[in-house]
Amino acid sequence: MTYSFDMLCPTRIAFGCGKAQEAPEEIRRLGASRPLVVTGPRLGKSAMAAEFLAALEKAGIPGELFTGAEPEPPAALVEEAGRNIHDKGFDLLIGLGGGSTMDFTKGLSVCAATEQPLREFVGQGLVPAKGLPMIMIPTTAGSGSEVSPVAVFSFPDEGVKLGLSSPFLTPDAALVDPLLTVGLPPTTTAYTGMDALIHGLESYLSRRSNAMSELFSLSAVAEILPWLEKAVKNGSDIEARTHLSLGSLLAGLAFSMAGTAAIHALAYPPGGTFHVPHGLANTVLMKSVLQFTLPWCGKKTEGLARALGVDGADDAERAEEIFDRLQRLVEALGCDIRLRELAIAEEDLPKMAKACLKEARLLANNPRPVTESDALAIYRRAW
Ligand SMILES: [Fe+2]
Repeated sequence: MTYSFDMLCPTRIAFGCGKAQEAPEEIRRLGASRPLVVTGPRLGKSAMAAEFLAALEKAGIPGELFTGAEPEPPAALVEEAGRNIHDKGFDLLIGLGGGSTMDFTKGLSVCAATEQPLREFVGQGLVPAKGLPMIMIPTTAGSGSEVSPVAVFSFPDEGVKLGLSSPFLTPDAALVDPLLTVGLPPTTTAYTGMDALIHGLESYLSRRSNAMSELFSLSAVAEILPWLEKAVKNGSDIEARTHLSLGSLLAGLAFSMAGTAAIHALAYPPGGTFHVPHGLANTVLMKSVLQFTLPWCGKKTEGLARALGVDGADDAERAEEIFDRLQRLVEALGCDIRLRELAIAEEDLPKMAKACLKEARLLANNPRPVTESDALAIYRRAW
């Protein structure tokens, strides 16, 4: 761990039940008056979206609704939507939805500032300018996109999902309201919750972790672990929902500094090519990647064991306890699934092993370097 770090967190964070209602004040604070509310097709038809727009209207800020934010957003779709809204005079974007919707919103913001394709900005620090200001209102507890400088898009021609990371993608405000996650179905709660938990785990183990990011990472794990199963079993448990929203936010702050690593890198090809939901793809690969990585993590094995509430006489025993604890959780959530059960054939594994190497930004964070043959062996273990 390093005690030297730079933390950039320009997002104003408002957290708590009912905080989504503060949107009009937040829009005014940012000097805007004509927001575009970006959401997905399902949420776009919901009472939540209608009520949100009505509240803006009542506050004297008429907003327009865009309902085309698709899951795992293809870059070309974002660019087309950006062209369509370009001359309509919107001065602020509101991302109302889960991680994909928030990433879609970030893509639209970039498209407002430049006409270059998003593919040119894949990587670290390549977005050339700040686009339209953004307020994020997450309706899942998972991606941490409400505070992160990262947006991930799929590039179907290449069969991958790739990330852009830039301070210009960090939202201006995040209204994190656990009440908005109450209607989430159990499966979505499980997948998104596992994504947040894995953000905590991976950012902690990352080679770029520091004294501050590790506090966020371990706190995120401690918030999520005891509450995820409860929220999946009883979606109306506001206390559980609140802990998950907080855990997801903390994990977002953690990986904004330290990044994620090989679990995410190896999860992107199953997501990009086979449309496996992001949180599920991470979950399916978690154990195999940790078995590969943990022997290289030194003292962090002890820290991770403590955060997960397990122990052991030495690191090898602690690692086994960590796998057992995570396995129990995955089974309790109904997510104990293998790659072969997700319509992925054994012949697809070499292609995925090649494709995941494109996630160089993430693989560089992994404590143990990952070669193509390592990736293939990991995929085989998870298959
Ligand atoms: Fe993730």
